[in-house]
Amino acid sequence: MKRYLITAALPYTNGPIHIGHLSGVYIPADIYSRYLRLCGREVVFICGSDEHGVAISIKASKEKTTPKSIIDKYDKVIRKSFETFGISFDNYSRTSRQIHYDTASEFFQKLNSSKKFIEMTSDQLYDNSSKKFLADRFVSGTCPLCSNKEAYGDQCEKCGSSLNATDLVNPKSTLSGDKPILKKTKHWYLPLNKYENFIKDWILVKHKDDWKINVYGQVKSWIEQGLKPRAVTRDLDWGIPVPTKEAEGKVLYVWFDAPIGYISSTKEWALQNKKKWEDYWKNDETELVHFIGKDNIVFHCIIFPSMLKAHGEYILPKNVPANEFLNLEGDKISTSKNWAVWIHEYLKDFPDKQDVMRYVLTANMPETKDSDFSWKDFQAKNNNELVAIYGNYVNRVVVLINKYYEGKVPAPKFYTNKDKEIINSVKLLRDKIGFAIEKFRFRESNSEMINIARIGNKYLADNEPWKLINIDPGRTKTILFISIQIVSALAFLSEPFLPFTSSKLKEILKIKKQIIWNDILNFNIIKPGQKISKESFLFEKVEDKAISNQYQKLERNKK
Ligand code: MF3
Ligand code: ZN
Repeated sequence: MKRYLITAALPYTNGPIHIGHLSGVYIPADIYSRYLRLCGREVVFICGSDEHGVAISIKASKEKTTPKSIIDKYDKVIRKSFETFGISFDNYSRTSRQIHYDTASEFFQKLNSSKKFIEMTSDQLYDNSSKKFLADRFVSGTCPLCSNKEAYGDQCEKCGSSLNATDLVNPKSTLSGDKPILKKTKHWYLPLNKYENFIKDWILVKHKDDWKINVYGQVKSWIEQGLKPRAVTRDLDWGIPVPTKEAEGKVLYVWFDAPIGYISSTKEWALQNKKKWEDYWKNDETELVHFIGKDNIVFHCIIFPSMLKAHGEYILPKNVPANEFLNLEGDKISTSKNWAVWIHEYLKDFPDKQDVMRYVLTANMPETKDSDFSWKDFQAKNNNELVAIYGNYVNRVVVLINKYYEGKVPAPKFYTNKDKEIINSVKLLRDKIGFAIEKFRFRESNSEMINIARIGNKYLADNEPWKLINIDPGRTKTILFISIQIVSALAFLSEPFLPFTSSKLKEILKIKKQIIWNDILNFNIIKPGQKISKESFLFEKVEDKAISNQYQKLERNKK
């Protein structure tokens, strides 16, 4: 049987996470993982904190503390946000753990001893006043490709290009603001140019049709610009020491160690669960899927695969379904301007509304282009869809069964052609939802999920069982039997999207057993005579006041 290894980008622990992270990476990865588990597949869903890199050093110096205290603080906050949101990782590790140091060091040593690197001494940017080499986020300047004035030393976030610090036009130290000088230093480079043909053949040819167009397009444009050797070591004091004598005082580039974090997190999981991690990373039967945001495409589609290829023992990702970015109220989400909805803050204001946010973020997911979150839309989607369609449908069926049959599921009498049609159309939706998830079309699958409740509502409205209770009691029983089957299908089919609601609904229906996706709607989840609960409360209206509070909060906190 096929195995799935699903990874979600390891978040930097230089701050908490916001709705952009959730909608871009963690919610799609979670829907995908939950769906595959429901299909009975073997799934390992891996993540962890990314605790090296210049972003963390910068945060530490801003807060006049150590990188260690920064990573400990935000690892906790982020970990808790994921947990509370129901992101169902099988393991959430940290790149500061020993197992990761060992794994990353071994990986480097293997490439080093098999001569996969080139060693080069060259002029690098140096900040004379702070006595530091400037790489990555320690230096900013103009992007040579798109002229964005705020590109960083390793990447331009505007056009997505991966850069070397010396490529920047008018470089400026982010430490002192000074213009850097040049100073010689030696580094280890992965000659990406040697992997160009491999990437071309693997992505541009073999994955022409099954990779997302936004991902494919980015890869194509980099290949067209030509790949250059890329340094995998840095002159920094925060990171994993380069494991060779000649490199004393140097550390691994964060984008060399972080993706190896997927491997060490899998190892950690395997150790705890008595499994072999190699079954996941070194076996062609395993499908590796990386969920990431668009700014991570180059690292996951070019650099990390080249590292894996150079190593030689690892499988390559089957797909890298990157999302674009989510905006907030029409503007770019920005940590420095504090223009964001932070997850730990949201959970304070709406402690039991994880599913509402999950739903809204999925409905607006930036799958093929940037999209927008607004509080008005949040309120509308909650009130007009979750409350008025999903919640209302469940409530009507549960109330009617309680009213007519003391909460016991009635036995059906005779199915009309229309009844059979309705059952079939829900089965079709089940298949459509699964198909769309497998194709990474989460917006579509989410809206088909809510369509089940729409169909159910319409079936009730068309058949009006309350008018028949005295005239044709058998017919009323059939209608409500079918309706409760649809409600129970909804309980399972909405699990990937709305896990908290799904488990509440299963409690209402007193469903204990687990079934697999294709058995949903085979009429054996909930049988005649089964007693359901009297309660049917799932969603509540979000009032105008709560929304205006959020608008005020955004304005008050923005910098
Ligand atoms: N920390 C990176 C970011 O937030 C993502 C790292 S993904 C990994 O952009 F592959 F390196 F782990
Ligand atoms: Zn650019």
